[in-house]
Parts: sequence; C-alpha cells; structure tokens
Amino acid sequence: MNDKLIIFDTTLRDGEQSPGASMTGDEKVRIARALERLQVDVIEAGFPAASPGDFDAVQAVATSIKDSTVCGLARALEKDIDRAGAALKPARSSRIHTFIATSPIHMKMKLQMQPEQVIEYAVKAVKRALKYTDNVEFSPEDAGRSDEDFLCRILEAVINAGAKTLNIPDTVGYSIPQQFGATIANLIERIPNSDKAIFSVHCHNDLGLAVANSLAAVMNGARQVECTINGLGERAGNASLEEVVMAVRTRKDVFTCHTDLDTREILSCSRLVSSITGFPVQPNKAIVGANAFAHEAGIHQDGVLKSRETYEIMCAEDVGWTANRMVLGKHSGRNAFKSRMAELSAEFASEEELNDAFFRFKQLADKKHEIFDEDLQALISEAGFEAEDECYKLISLKVCSETGKFLMQR
Ligand code: KIV
Ligand code: ZN
Repeated sequence: MNDKLIIFDTTLRDGEQSPGASMTGDEKVRIARALERLQVDVIEAGFPAASPGDFDAVQAVATSIKDSTVCGLARALEKDIDRAGAALKPARSSRIHTFIATSPIHMKMKLQMQPEQVIEYAVKAVKRALKYTDNVEFSPEDAGRSDEDFLCRILEAVINAGAKTLNIPDTVGYSIPQQFGATIANLIERIPNSDKAIFSVHCHNDLGLAVANSLAAVMNGARQVECTINGLGERAGNASLEEVVMAVRTRKDVFTCHTDLDTREILSCSRLVSSITGFPVQPNKAIVGANAFAHEAGIHQDGVLKSRETYEIMCAEDVGWTANRMVLGKHSGRNAFKSRMAELSAEFASEEELNDAFFRFKQLADKKHEIFDEDLQALISEAGFEAEDECYKLISLKVCSETGKFLMQR
C-alpha cells in the first residue's frame, strides 16, 4: 500500500498568525505561487472574515493559483462561511475549512456553549459551506484536549452533513506522539462512517513535538498533514512542511504513503517566506538551515568525500541546495544573476524588468564586495516601487551605542 499523503500548507493563514509575520496581499500571492511550484495540494490562504485585507488577499490568491486547491478558514458561523465562499469564488478548486472548539475548557470558558449546541453549530456550518463548494473540511479546535467520545460524536455528525476532511488539531501543542497516534487510530476505528472522510492533523509546536506528532498520526492512518514553511505559526509555530515531507520521503521503509511535492522547490520557498516575514531561519534548522548539509568535523568531511552517504541521509540537491554555489559580485554576468534569481523564486514579467533588476544589481555590486541572497531579495522587493509612491525619504541615519556614562578613572 502506498497512499497519497495530502500536504495542506497553512503558512499564509496560521503562519501569518505568528506575531510580527503579517503579509500584504501581494506578498501572499508571491508565496502562494512558490507553494504552487512546490506542488502543495492545498494552500490555506487566510481567514476572509478576519478583515477586508484578508478577504482581498484570499481572493487574490484564489484568482492567481491554478494547480493547488485554495482554502479559506471560517468559524462555524454563517457570516464567516459566506465571506469565505465569496473570497474563494474565483478559485479553480476551492475548499472551506470551518472549525469550532470541542475541549471542555474552550466550550465552557470561550464559547459558553453546551456540547450539544456545539454539534449543532458544526453541522450547520458544514451544510452552509456546501453551498459554495463540495470540498469542506471541519476541525474540532483543541481536539488534543477534547474528550474522545465527544470527538467521535461530532465527527460522525459532520461526515453525515457532508464534510470530506476531518482535521484533528493539537491546538495548544499538548499531545505526545504515541498518545496522539493512538487517538487518530481510535477515531478512525470508532467512527462508523470514518471511511467517508480523510483524516488530517494540525499540530502546534509548544513542546517541540509538532512534526513528531504529525508523523505519529500519519503512521496511524492520517492522510493529510497541515504544516507551514519553516514551521511558522501561532506561538511556537506549526509542524514544519519541509521536515514532514522529507521524513516521509527519506523513510520509505516506515511510511506507507508518499507526497506529490517537487521537493527541489523547498529551499527557495523557505527563503522567500523568511525574506517576506523577516523571520530568519536558524542555521541548524533541519533541511533548510545554512548548516543542514555542512560538515565541520574532519572525520565527517573525510567520510563525505569518500562516500556522501556516510554522513548524509538526504541529497542536498533534492531540497534545492545547489552543488556549486556561485558567489555573486561585480564580475558576475547576467546569466549567473538570472539563475540565482530563479533559485530565489523571483519572477520577471519581461526582459526589460530583468534588465532593470540586473542594472540595479550592478550598481549595488559596485558599492558592496559580495552580494548575498538577502541583498537580492531586497532588490526584488524594491522593484515596482515607483518614485511617486514614495511617502518618506531617508535623509540620513545616525547609529550610536554606549555602555553607560563616560567616566575617567585613574
Ligand atoms: O490550531 C488550530 O486549532 C487551528 C484551527 C483553526 C485548525 O489553527
Ligand atoms: Zn493552528
């Protein structure tokens, strides 16, 4: 058996909920295009009812993405679902993801609802979402701390109402792999109509276990993982897409499923998200960190030179690292510039735009010895920023630093 594992990317929704990671509509479209090149199955583009800006961004992503399904989040409320339905209208393939909390603490303290009422809201929400698309996902929020019997009841009811994907979120990152895996297996076994839906998981990283919990769920029958590039997301973040995908690919002996992703696009996606959000990737981050394929110890270097597999379990090129990384500077030609820009997922609408960026690169290279990827990212971001758009101009900058009052001592 080798099932498909659906990759549902929520960088543009849960990822954007990281404090300080908000993105403009244009930035979301750029990231969505990079995710489409990566061939993720579903892109959760935002929460249309959250703000007019988020509505517009989801609509813009829905308009420009052709190959991935575009999803919008909605609370189990009519007005949220109608907003999501409207924002997703231009999408070639759309999904509405509706949710309501099911843990005792959330139902009592946050929703102030009885469990029966929560089931009613969930069923109504799924039915309303079906007016806009036949691809409806339901999440019992805080499932990680919910009662299993109650989860069975609500999930059975939403499948009967027409939900095709049941997402089990560990909203507060409380679960432990063995236990979370067992929960998924139990739900699939106990819910009488579980064969009519795909089970999905959405794990947060509060205990650093998001990827481990997601993989434990996959080993127990989950066939969709919700994740984000670089593990971005609320608080400590979500399961990192690159780690989940490469674990499944690298350990084919353990996983009976595969993803359809073009993993060679992982690194450029990671860099794009990092440059747009301003969240740097730690050097020792698995797969995409600067040191992920670097070998420092002499014994390791010697081993790798003799046979790569001695210390590398994956091929760096398979996730987008290039074997010969060229250093760009003022002597670099247009071709080297163009291919580096392609690696960074930069798109140029015309030759003229490329020439213009190359001209600005040369100007910068005259002032700066070595041009880093961050400089190139800044070049791309500057493009299209016309002089008449300028509201502020930096006239001068002064930087001071001190350790305290200047005192002379004999
Ligand atoms: O963490 C969570 O519970 C969520 C839901 C909306 C799926 O993000
Ligand atoms: Zn979440």
